Amino acid sequence: MQNNRILIFGRIGQVGWELRHKLACLGQVTAVEYPGIDFSKPDSIRAAVRAAQPSIVINAAAYTAVDRAESEPELAMAINGTAPGVIAEEAKRLGSLLVHFSTDYVFDGTKLGAYLETDAPNPINVYGKTKLAGDKAIQAVGGEFLILRTSWVYGARGSNFLLTMLRLARERSELQIVDDQFGAPTSSECIAQATAAILAQLLPPAGVGLDGRNGIYNLTCTGETSWFGFARVLLTQSAATFGFTVPNLVPIDTRDYPRPAKRPANSRLSCQRLAETFGVMMPSWQNALSLVLETLAEGASREKPR
Ligand SMILES: NC(=O)c1ccc[n+]([C@@H]2O[C@H](COP(=O)([O-])OP(=O)(O)OC[C@H]3O[C@@H](n4cnc5c(N)ncnc54)[C@H](OP(=O)(O)O)[C@@H]3O)[C@@H](O)[C@H]2O)c1
Repeated sequence: MQNNRILIFGRIGQVGWELRHKLACLGQVTAVEYPGIDFSKPDSIRAAVRAAQPSIVINAAAYTAVDRAESEPELAMAINGTAPGVIAEEAKRLGSLLVHFSTDYVFDGTKLGAYLETDAPNPINVYGKTKLAGDKAIQAVGGEFLILRTSWVYGARGSNFLLTMLRLARERSELQIVDDQFGAPTSSECIAQATAAILAQLLPPAGVGLDGRNGIYNLTCTGETSWFGFARVLLTQSAATFGFTVPNLVPIDTRDYPRPAKRPANSRLSCQRLAETFGVMMPSWQNALSLVLETLAEGASREKPR
């Protein structure tokens, strides 16, 4: 098992951090990070892959500042659109498997139901366009790859909606939150666990390789809510533990919260293909949230003087 060498790009990102911990039992993990490895410099990517000689390359690094991408489209395209193609070329050259993460923001959000992997993307912001370019670059290179599309990522660390809400709840008596965008909040921990469950089926000695199963898979927690719904549940559930009063929560429309980047109204992704192909069943977003809040509460209680 230890002959498996796993290279992770994005060591301290939300997903990369969790992957580093969850994949440790599958092989020897090397995790690298910006600025040591800079995705805007393809040579630095090639050097990292060639030095690690991995059997699996995981790309959890990305330009994720959705609003800032509107004013830095070239940089966002270099990191999200071009770099994944370079990684795919290097992975193919070594005969390694590439796992890459993509986003609900490749869709325009106008579909009525949950998006399937076969639905035509039509991104409505720069970030979504650059991520779609990355997906296409990997597909054009070919080789052994999995593109895992996820949504609304949050966790106990990093920069995310949950931690922002917990901070704002302490600072303000009222919070206005968008209530007309729908999707599935997905914890970085669940993404990493599901990725580990997939990889355990592919890696030697137990695994059988992809065997024609390469392609795009949606990977989110189950169920759906709005940002307002997510905030209401997370704040109500954690107020007593963290010692704050739930602020007055006001649902608002997207048009009342103008941002540089447009967001899709519908971010729902069907995970049926993931379940049928790899037998991976994702938890409900509420269950995943409870686990993350437990982790945060545990950390907070350890910080208190005894
Ligand atoms: N966050 C979401 O809501 C969301 C939703 C759907 C899909 N996704 C996708 O899921 C994956 C993981 O997202 P995440 O939330 O874990 O992202 P994240 O926390 O923002 O982490 C991204 C990582 O990429 C690194 N990075 C930034 N610029 C770089 C560069 N030029 N070269 C190399 N690395 C660079 C960042 O380093 P620094 O911290 O030093 O900048 C960071 O460690 C990404 O592919 C993202 O597109 C995320």
